[in-house]
Amino acid sequence: MEKVYIFDTTLRDGEQSCGVSLSIKEKLDIARQLANLGVDIIEAGFPIASHGDFEAVQAIAEEIDGPVIAGLARVLPEDIERAASAIKPAKRRRLHIFLATSKIHMDYKLKKSKEEILKMAVEGVKLAKSFTDDVEFSPEDASRTEKSFLYEVLEATISAGATTVNIPDTVGYAMPAEFGTLIADIKRAVKNIGKAIISVHCHNDLGMAVANSLSAVMNGARQVECTMNGIGERAGNASLDEIVMAIKIRPDLFQLFTEVNTQHIYKTSKMVSGYTGMVVQPNKAVVGSNALAHSSGIHQDGFLKERTTYEIMRPEDIGLAESKIVLTKLSGRHALKKRLQDLGFSLTDEELSCAFKAFKELADKKKEIFDADIQALIEDEVHIPPERFKLDYLYVSCGTGTIPTATIRIKDGERLVQEVAWGNGPIDAIYLAIDKAIGISSKLKDYSVSALTGEKEAIGEVVVRIERGVKEITGRGISTDIIEASAKAYLSAINRSVQNQGF
Ligand code: KIV
Ligand code: ZN
Repeated sequence: MEKVYIFDTTLRDGEQSCGVSLSIKEKLDIARQLANLGVDIIEAGFPIASHGDFEAVQAIAEEIDGPVIAGLARVLPEDIERAASAIKPAKRRRLHIFLATSKIHMDYKLKKSKEEILKMAVEGVKLAKSFTDDVEFSPEDASRTEKSFLYEVLEATISAGATTVNIPDTVGYAMPAEFGTLIADIKRAVKNIGKAIISVHCHNDLGMAVANSLSAVMNGARQVECTMNGIGERAGNASLDEIVMAIKIRPDLFQLFTEVNTQHIYKTSKMVSGYTGMVVQPNKAVVGSNALAHSSGIHQDGFLKERTTYEIMRPEDIGLAESKIVLTKLSGRHALKKRLQDLGFSLTDEELSCAFKAFKELADKKKEIFDADIQALIEDEVHIPPERFKLDYLYVSCGTGTIPTATIRIKDGERLVQEVAWGNGPIDAIYLAIDKAIGISSKLKDYSVSALTGEKEAIGEVVVRIERGVKEITGRGISTDIIEASAKAYLSAINRSVQNQGF
């Protein structure tokens, strides 16, 4: 059986999802977990895009051992040099450079001729090659590129030194049979294709990203670019969990394997949805909360008689054991540390002290502490990005026949600011009071609340999406009190936005 390389781009294309902005700490946690998961390549970011992106790629390159660390760059020299410098500390590093080759992109976006594009692609690969042997070239919008030109670009870039050529379905336009044929045609028509690995990178605009990637794999692609939970630009990218499980569950068909340790899938999925605020839909394949649940009577009956009647993968295969009570208020620091390590978090002593304090406070309110509680606690109380505004006091009055009113006090550095406001409901009142107190107004675009675990005393998780200027940004707050969680979520979105765009 041949291996399919898993190239994870959660931290690059995934972070391009509308409203998502991860801090360096969050990116490092995810990268560590991706290494535990056993992905082959981590695309850590697009270093020229911002100073923060550069720093995050560099931090990941310094710390993460195991997977190859890739940095994305356009074919421009300044992009390539910046990406090369960010990935330099990595033991195994890759430069991933891209340039659009479809007529639409060349005519309207780049305003360049085929000859110019070909020259830029070759020069880009040669320059990248001067920094590392491991160079990947992507002809952006490959699935809409004239085939003969695509072959020419691939042949030239492989001759220039590209060791991986990636075929992106940038706008999710292709259909599975067609995309598979494209890969088979590339294998036939590009003379030196044997010197490079064929990779694919599919977007999900028509819901085909996973099907297209798998069809490509059946036709000779040996690297798949994907993201955890399928997050990414617009409708997202091919979902890592679905690709990996499909190859694992159907060896009879694919005759291939990946080196992903599937038992880490569920916790990686949880970490990514927690940090990005991109909630996983309950019916999502593999990691959705309903994906491995049986509800109809006939199914339950069949399942109880013989599991394989209705189950093609077991919860344990993706690391989803029965949600078990792991800790109570009597548990000690050591037990918490061990559980955190099992969940993929590695904490400094100072962070562990902070986590332990938050854990004890939670255990006073909630008898049984589940994995989901601990995970949320770390994401919200310990690994928080630098926060300018902190919730200090909140009082809300509401009820039938009353005017919902909120009084809020916020710490802005050393300063305390307080305000009162009324609205058409308690959340509206809180958000208006926050806007007045900090003097920033944002538009609430989306609000959702859910319970992290099943019981009545569960932690409530609130995810909001706000708009400030042209940017949308997500924030998340947790608390056993959903009113408090709502205030924290709104403040967390504002803090992230202030950190990215300034006041
Ligand atoms: O979708 C795309 O074409 C990309 C490239 C940079 C590979 O993300
Ligand atoms: Zn993409």
